[in-house]
Amino acid sequence: MTINELFNGIYLVDNKLATINLDIGHKVYNEELIHYNNNEYRLWNPYRSKLAAAILNKLKTVEIKKNLKILYIGSATGTTVSHVSDIIGKDGLVYCIELSERNMRQFLNSCENRENIIPILADARYTEKYEDIVEECDVLYQDVSSKDQTEILKKNSRFLKKNGIAYFIIKSQSIDISKDPKIIFENELNKLKQDFEIKEKINIEPYDKKHLFVVLKKL
Ligand SMILES: C[S@@+](CC[C@H](N)C(=O)[O-])C[C@H]1O[C@@H](n2cnc3c(N)ncnc32)[C@H](O)[C@@H]1O
Repeated sequence: MTINELFNGIYLVDNKLATINLDIGHKVYNEELIHYNNNEYRLWNPYRSKLAAAILNKLKTVEIKKNLKILYIGSATGTTVSHVSDIIGKDGLVYCIELSERNMRQFLNSCENRENIIPILADARYTEKYEDIVEECDVLYQDVSSKDQTEILKKNSRFLKKNGIAYFIIKSQSIDISKDPKIIFENELNKLKQDFEIKEKINIEPYDKKHLFVVLKKL
């Protein structure tokens, strides 16, 4: 077996992406667990996680690191969040905002032992609902499928520190299915130029189609 550390806390285990499991013995989405040298690695499926897809498609800015505070919008049932939780470790913190009660229930079941996760059932359009809980964050990650996703990101950037990195997945199909995705991506990025520097744009095919994975730096 070959293990290479690709980025801080992110590994290639026989060329498959993985993180070291913070919640030993537990799976979140039926991923494979691999034991090697006293570590338990959890394979990270790029077809289930756009962050994994972006990393495999040569993402350069990987700012999710040990001990950091992350605000994660659209945590769903916790697939990607669980890997973020592995990477930031027990002294990091990930605030997770999720609108759907059903997803939140499943998320709470699968991640109940992960003490670095703060789940918040809320609509991310209304940041005042969680402004007393969320502290200033090093990184913002947003993956929500709504028409006003760019406005949601702008609102939540109030929690991101200056020069902090935001990962933003633009879903063209949620904005307008009738338009060419390229035009939609350009329009949405134009709305962000005043507040962010655009650092990277990653196409995440073949793992996901009609999405653009964008890396932004808060000005
Ligand atoms: C594509 S899924 C996220 C998948 C997840 N990021 C992962 O990789 O494991 C989008 C999630 O965003 C949630 N969502 C949509 N609009 C939202 C909003 N306004 N506020 C909070 N969550 C929202 C949905 O309920 C859904 O669970």
